[in-house]
Amino acid sequence: MGDNDAVERSSQIIVALDFDNRRAADEMVDRLGDQCRFYKVGMELLTAAGPDLIEHLVAKGKEVFLDLKLFEIPNSVAGAVRVAGALGVSMVTVHSMGGIGIMSAAVEAARDFPRLRVLALTVVTSMTSSDFVDIGVTGSTSTEEQVLRLARLAEGAGCHGVIASPQETGPLRGVLGARTLIVTPGVALPGESPSEHARTGTPRAAVAAGASYVVVGRTITRAADPAAAFRLVRANLEP
Ligand code: C5P
Repeated sequence: MGDNDAVERSSQIIVALDFDNRRAADEMVDRLGDQCRFYKVGMELLTAAGPDLIEHLVAKGKEVFLDLKLFEIPNSVAGAVRVAGALGVSMVTVHSMGGIGIMSAAVEAARDFPRLRVLALTVVTSMTSSDFVDIGVTGSTSTEEQVLRLARLAEGAGCHGVIASPQETGPLRGVLGARTLIVTPGVALPGESPSEHARTGTPRAAVAAGASYVVVGRTITRAADPAAAFRLVRANLEP
């Protein structure tokens, strides 16, 4: 494997900084060093550490996926997306279940920020068909059908990509345009217990099925040696 291949594969790994304080996040970024250049910041860390952390990561040359999972009136969604763009964020998430209005507002607001991509959440990976019954989404609908339907809606609204579990990545790649990003959380290395992911798979399987990026959290961040765990994920991505 050449250095370039390793860099290529590293750049497909987004490490989820799911921490409740800035110090733990900074420490993780230091421990992973140059090999990791893409981080996901979710609601927990954003609430704990504030936007300074994002500016800090961007200033260090990192890309930031700000996982806000926006589901609000379009005007508020647009405002949040503009602020994310101004912070230098590369990816931000909206809920496709909120409909076209929310997604279009996000896409429109992102236009002023060329590097900012709007990703739509289809179905959160912990949800199963029985959850759909609970919330009244019945009739046709298997989880996969729901994911495909929402992903088409997101693409139609101009979203740059979607979030999807490993299981839906292949079917999604089949229906979405080649340039539409698929970002896949819910992955685990072979032999790992799947924690609370209902629909899990390996990073390699996700990328082989068409994922543009994989999101990896605890596999790396809770490892005794996170840098070694990152290398294991990268090695798993080797063809
Ligand atoms: O499980 P792991 O720690 O790798 O999770 C990383 C990210 O994947 C989380 O920040 C979360 O947004 C996402 N995730 C998910 N569905 C789950 C568990 C985690 O989408 N069931």
